Amino acid sequence: MAYTKELSFGHRNLARILFGENSALDVGRQVDSLGGSRALIVTDEGLMNIELPQRVGGTLGDKCVGIFGKVQPDSGVHIVQEGVEVAKELHADILVSIGGGSSIDTAKGMAVVLKGGGKLSDYTPTLPGVEGPLIPHIAIPTTAGSGSESTPVAVVKDHERQEKLLFLSDLLFPQVAILDPQMTVSMPPLLTASTGMDAMSHAVEGIVSTNREPIADALALHAIKLITEYLPQCVENGDDLLARGQQLVAATIAGMAFGNSLCGIVHAMAHIVGAKYGVPHGIANGMLLPHGMRYNLDACRDGYALVAQAMGVREKGMSQQQAAEAAVNAMRQFTRKLGHPQRLREVGVPQEGLEACAAATLIEPDIFFNPRPGDLAEVLKTLQEAW
Ligand SMILES: [Fe+2]
Repeated sequence: MAYTKELSFGHRNLARILFGENSALDVGRQVDSLGGSRALIVTDEGLMNIELPQRVGGTLGDKCVGIFGKVQPDSGVHIVQEGVEVAKELHADILVSIGGGSSIDTAKGMAVVLKGGGKLSDYTPTLPGVEGPLIPHIAIPTTAGSGSESTPVAVVKDHERQEKLLFLSDLLFPQVAILDPQMTVSMPPLLTASTGMDAMSHAVEGIVSTNREPIADALALHAIKLITEYLPQCVENGDDLLARGQQLVAATIAGMAFGNSLCGIVHAMAHIVGAKYGVPHGIANGMLLPHGMRYNLDACRDGYALVAQAMGVREKGMSQQQAAEAAVNAMRQFTRKLGHPQRLREVGVPQEGLEACAAATLIEPDIFFNPRPGDLAEVLKTLQEAW
């Protein structure tokens, strides 16, 4: 798994990240800098109820032409389509997404369809036929997990076919990500823990991916350090703005990492149980991460030894094997400490569905970047252990 002298890679990133308390309220300046004058906010119903998007929209004055507040967890191609109609009707010239991965990915999907026409499912996975640039997009995350604000990736569900569609293109990078710790304080403890574990999964999977490279690894390792230190503090005291801010940075840099190195078996399994049984993305990843690490252990001891070091559990004198095992055990304990759900059976996955989940995992796109190839019997065993 170590780098070889044949290593060759390109590293891409979004253009601008702004961090700071109340920085979201300064979004108008970013809209101006991108030449926008008719901003449409894309957000979800839960946030509408606590009036967060309205507050941000208020700072934009006349430059905000409307709020599309219909995003749901696991956004869908039909929701993207509805958003596109609203954007056209209002002649929006810039999108401001406010929310978790679903809202940000919905805005990414809307930008694709606004440019290319038709429906979003025509453009999987690499936006064939779409030439840039797309409508500008400013992302303001209100969770600290998906990292969508900093990735060229979008995941949108086709609810009719019970499938998650993956999109990957540099055109999907938002132009600006605004990281405002205040925007994440409304998250309750379970959502904080599960979205945080999504970020942890991005970092850990990135480090052992077949696409790994040193810049992404550096970002991922620092993300693991920050999450290990600050995520428990965020869960314990949601008003701790220092911890919230550092966790937000961690999620964004883990996004920068996996946007380049991509994920692996944990995300592959998580996407399948999410699509089939509605298990929220963060919860699925948090549950499956220690199990996926166990599946991969022999294929990437050196990568997991780095994870152990970043989590502070690599003791002096440990062999690489011992350190890798310490990382797997530490990850399991970490999720327990967070009060994170532990078993698939707790979240509505039936035992008789595991075989179909294992088979679907083997053709899920993330599996192709996993350090150990997909093996049907072993993937099924892993899911059974997680059940
Ligand atoms: Fe994820």
